[in-house]
Amino acid sequence: MQALITGGAGFIGSNIARALVGQGWGVRVLDDLSSGYLHNLDGLAVDFRHGDVRDPQAVADAVAGCDVVFHLAASVGNKRSIDDPIDDSSVNVIGTLQVLEAARKAGVRKIVASSSAGIYGELRTMPIHESHPLDPLTPYGASKLCMEKQCLAYAATHGMEAVALRYFNVYGENQRFDAYGNVIPIFVFNALQGRPITIFGDGMQTRDFVNVADVVQANIKAALAPGVSGAFNIASATQTRILDLANAIREGLGIPVEIELGPRRAGDVEHSLADVGAASAAFGYAPRVTMEEGLPEYLAWAKGEAERIRNTERN
Ligand SMILES: NC(=O)c1ccc[n+]([C@@H]2O[C@H](COP(=O)([O-])OP(=O)(O)OC[C@H]3O[C@@H](n4cnc5c(N)ncnc54)[C@H](O)[C@@H]3O)[C@@H](O)[C@H]2O)c1
Repeated sequence: MQALITGGAGFIGSNIARALVGQGWGVRVLDDLSSGYLHNLDGLAVDFRHGDVRDPQAVADAVAGCDVVFHLAASVGNKRSIDDPIDDSSVNVIGTLQVLEAARKAGVRKIVASSSAGIYGELRTMPIHESHPLDPLTPYGASKLCMEKQCLAYAATHGMEAVALRYFNVYGENQRFDAYGNVIPIFVFNALQGRPITIFGDGMQTRDFVNVADVVQANIKAALAPGVSGAFNIASATQTRILDLANAIREGLGIPVEIELGPRRAGDVEHSLADVGAASAAFGYAPRVTMEEGLPEYLAWAKGEAERIRNTERN
């Protein structure tokens, strides 16, 4: 099997690349390295193409001969989309249409696109089922909803199979800290630099954290499930309290870390918990990695990464 991974040098894409290579797939990556890193693919036999998903020729060349496209390239995150909504929609909507058009012309069998729980907006019913209202509150949520609908429209119109995977809070190896980062890398990298962990609110709020290994599992199972198209939640279907997470990070790192509480941020949801029954029924998705297993693995990787960054800065 031959796959194209757009955004394959990023956090989730590079984990998919590693798993596919391990399973004997041919893997091509198209990435403009705007938020991904070439060294995420170190040691992997992948055909790397530096390019932008908005460039029709680059996408057509990358898609040629592929059975499956894993489409992850995106402008990622609410904050980034509020800072630059034009770029957000340009990559997430137009970029996705370029990928769909190229895939259709090349006769690709299936596209597995990365969507986001951000498309639900304010969470009203728990656990969150795919039928929950779709009312995104940020340009990012809106652009991910649009790209998801475009994928499903291509499935309806052109007979190409398309699956959109709505990830909840993903964490794991190759997830770095940056200004737009998720809560786990922010806590961990702050702690590793001797800074306090700041929780916005009382820490009683919960999130559904899913380990990247389970997101990889979902992508590959969805790709291999014949005749399956649609949108599916991908999560652990468990809740972790943010205060418990901060304490577990402090204990796991084994260094003194101050945990401080700050004012609640407007727009932050109080609780999040997904129903993953649809993905389980459609393609056998079953979350396996618990926070007790996944967090220590991530902490070990993050310590090594912090050391690598220190050495790079020193030289
Ligand atoms: N990390 C999460 O918790 C999470 C949650 C929900 C959805 N997602 C979705 O999963 C996907 C992967 O996210 P991630 O967390 O790995 O982020 P990431 O930033 O590490 O990966 C995105 C990759 O896309 C590449 N890219 C960006 N714009 C591009 C362009 N115009 N052309 C080509 N490549 C481009 C980046 O260089 C990067 O390698 C995204 O579609 C994101 O919206 C992630």
